[in-house]
Amino acid sequence: CKFHPSMRGVLTVAGAGGGVEPERPSFDQPLVVPATKRGAEIRLVMRRSRVRTLPHGRRTSMWTYDGTYPGPTIRRRGGRGTRVTVVNRLPKGAGSMSTHLHGDHHASKDDGQPTSRLIRRGSSRTYDYPLTYDGRAEPGSFFWYHDHRMDRTARNNWRGLQGMFIVTDPPTPGLRLPSGARDIPLMISERSFTPSNQLTDPFADGPSMVGHHGEMAWIGPNAPPDDATVGDTVLVNGRAAPYLGVTATRYRLRLLNSSPFSSYNLTLSDGRPLLQIGTGSGLLPRAVVRSSVLLGPAQRADVIVDFSGATGRRLVLESVPAAIGSTGADARETAVMEFRVGASAPDPSRLPSRLPSPELVSPVPATVSKTWTFGLSEGHHSSSWTINGQAFDPTRTDHRAGLGTVERWRFRNTSDLTHYVHIHAEQWRTLLRDGKAPPPWEQGLEDTWRLEPGEEVEVSARFTDYTGAFMIHCHMLDHEDHGMMARFDVVP
Ligand code: C2O
Ligand code: CU
Repeated sequence: CKFHPSMRGVLTVAGAGGGVEPERPSFDQPLVVPATKRGAEIRLVMRRSRVRTLPHGRRTSMWTYDGTYPGPTIRRRGGRGTRVTVVNRLPKGAGSMSTHLHGDHHASKDDGQPTSRLIRRGSSRTYDYPLTYDGRAEPGSFFWYHDHRMDRTARNNWRGLQGMFIVTDPPTPGLRLPSGARDIPLMISERSFTPSNQLTDPFADGPSMVGHHGEMAWIGPNAPPDDATVGDTVLVNGRAAPYLGVTATRYRLRLLNSSPFSSYNLTLSDGRPLLQIGTGSGLLPRAVVRSSVLLGPAQRADVIVDFSGATGRRLVLESVPAAIGSTGADARETAVMEFRVGASAPDPSRLPSRLPSPELVSPVPATVSKTWTFGLSEGHHSSSWTINGQAFDPTRTDHRAGLGTVERWRFRNTSDLTHYVHIHAEQWRTLLRDGKAPPPWEQGLEDTWRLEPGEEVEVSARFTDYTGAFMIHCHMLDHEDHGMMARFDVVP
């Protein structure tokens, strides 16, 4: 296991001499909100760059979109077509890349496929995102873009190929969510560093592949089920343990866990609630008061935090062990960032009890049309993460769905680890979690679900607008790279 419970260079010991208190970082660098790009034509150059991650010492050499980690945040109104040209100027050895806009609905050719339409070094590719769904503007959402190259996704994301993408709604009467400097995207992602502040290379002695597609398996020390890329230092928008000065008003925090493997159960140190108003795919029908929000890899939550009454205090956003679940993907125990609460200020924000959430597919089919079983196949010398007993093969179609039809899919987990199931292309409704109605925070649109060992989740969507190949996979990137991905085709 590559987890080391220290945070080199950023730790001070709190409560020395007192009782047992968790070590907390000193929060001595400011949070950085990535630069925003808003145009219809956007260009992102993938290149190596030296970026500030740790508060002291050298900068860190990373692979970036446009020279920063995270890359620029793209912000566009739903329905306004956006063309993103990605140029590959990465160093030799990086190889070809593929950029996927996670959560968005777009054509198969613009999906950032794992093996086709790759961006070779020295060349570029333009992805077309109409930001529409079934002829209408896509609802306000919190997407993110990241590399999706087959077998190399964990490495390429670890090196830094990640950025955020916000789709906005037109103004809605009666709804005034915190905006401007009070609407803050937070990308949470962990890494480990060498003593000279460079990224460690967890992939240097990674498992090797044996066999060929269809019978692919992995051998070596970090082969399934022991493959887990975790880091000892949590970064928020690329900085370890940052602080943010806030007024004593409401803030909208868009939380994204872009870690390769770990999950976080996020909570505020004074017990102040997180009011969840949305998932990554749109608003919830009603805001949900939560004491903690569990986010696995690629999951997002749109939350409101009210800092009023906390003037002069420092509140820590931290991750605490999750009360649910008992295996592999358990939330880490760690400090994430600090809010330094200043004076109160005028607050024009308004939160109605019902939110203008996007419509869910209805009616839904009574019977399941496809079951996807997430498992592990272990041989004598090699092993692989599987879906329906098979490792990923990009040339094999694992399911066909008719354009215009509504399907009901079931996920099952037969392994002993939690997985986080992500589906490309469509916006999904969660129907059942273990035979019961899903919790209130899963009653909006979703694209990534937690799936505990033994658990079953049923979801439904209409296949609309685009035919072609799309992916379903575990978003724990080691699992994705080591077989746990399948392909479905939307057909006329
Ligand atoms: Cu965020 Cu298939 O990926
Ligand atoms: Cu998994």
